Amino acid sequence: MRAKYLGRSDGALTLVLRKLGSLTLDERKKIGPVAQALKEKLEQLCDAQETQLLGLGGSVVDATLPSLAPETGHLHPVTLVRWQLEDLFTRMGFVIVDGPEVESEWYNFDALNMPSWHPARDMQDTFYTEVQSSKFKVQSDEVAAQRLVLRTQTSPVQIRAMEKYGVPLRCIVPGRVYRNEATDARHENTFWQIEGLMIDRDISLAHLISISKIFLRDLLGERIGIRVRPGYFPFTEPSIEMDITCQLCADQRRSSSRFAGPKSQTRLPKPVTGNGNIHGDKDAQFMYGVFSKDGYGGQVNADVKCPVCKGMGWLEFMGAGLMHPFVLKSGGVDPKKYSGFAFGFGLTRLAMMKYGIGDIRMMMSGNLRFLEQF
Ligand code: DAH
Repeated sequence: MRAKYLGRSDGALTLVLRKLGSLTLDERKKIGPVAQALKEKLEQLCDAQETQLLGLGGSVVDATLPSLAPETGHLHPVTLVRWQLEDLFTRMGFVIVDGPEVESEWYNFDALNMPSWHPARDMQDTFYTEVQSSKFKVQSDEVAAQRLVLRTQTSPVQIRAMEKYGVPLRCIVPGRVYRNEATDARHENTFWQIEGLMIDRDISLAHLISISKIFLRDLLGERIGIRVRPGYFPFTEPSIEMDITCQLCADQRRSSSRFAGPKSQTRLPKPVTGNGNIHGDKDAQFMYGVFSKDGYGGQVNADVKCPVCKGMGWLEFMGAGLMHPFVLKSGGVDPKKYSGFAFGFGLTRLAMMKYGIGDIRMMMSGNLRFLEQF
């Protein structure tokens, strides 16, 4: 309308106004004010329509515009890693087992060789419920007397799985666990773990280590290095701790002049000595470097100032070991006939490593700007 009547070059009203000069005085007096008033009125109407159509004064529906793309959901990074591991372990003949998150004290601790007086209980600051488990249906009178806890670990499902499926048994248990932790970038009161176990005749640490290599390489890449140290858990004997090479500084380490390549590491690497090493003392350097026979990484490197591993090159990854005879018996398995390995690690931490997430609090934040990146 604006263009039709008020257009600068050929608007109908513009042409009338332009011609005014060529009219007689009388004609001008008659037509001039009317044309001028009409122009103002038209401008006002056009302005008002425009404001409304631009959405300032009301809503605009333009049926010809393409529709907004519907927002799709995203898998949480923990779910992504969990699914990848579930997929891999099921291909290796493991079943996926679930257990309750509100667990009896018996399953969470006692059956795993952690009686109430055991100092290892202090490591897992536990939420106890006010409700006694006798109010729920539980397995036996002995158990019924026990308190309920929010499970501090997925390990109680070791016992439940043996009771339910017997042996031989291969299973993994992904699950949420709870601890009374003060929250910071590395600690949360709620997080995910994965437990795994394999029980059969003559299962040894060799099985544990080779299965660990397979799943860690599948998840983090062929170049991941693995280190095994002695450890202690009440439910395994012997117990080990497994470390992996730090993913964050692995590339720096590889390109560094001190790094000599995977072959040279089949011999024990010489301890790195000299000034400027962040660890300062020789023995510590030796300890951190010496076990690396496997893949890349492992040498303390002063040039690498990594905030995650502090230049050590290693990250603690999981606890594991051969299942303690007490635990096998708790699950009704004869330890004279069967042996098994068990392991447990933080799935949340693993997802953080895989995706380079620096703060565990993001994981449960529900923050879409964080979640939409996966
Ligand atoms: N449950 C332990 C924890 O939460 C982790 C663990 C260690 C699980 C050793 C295992 C194991 O099965 O053998 O700290």
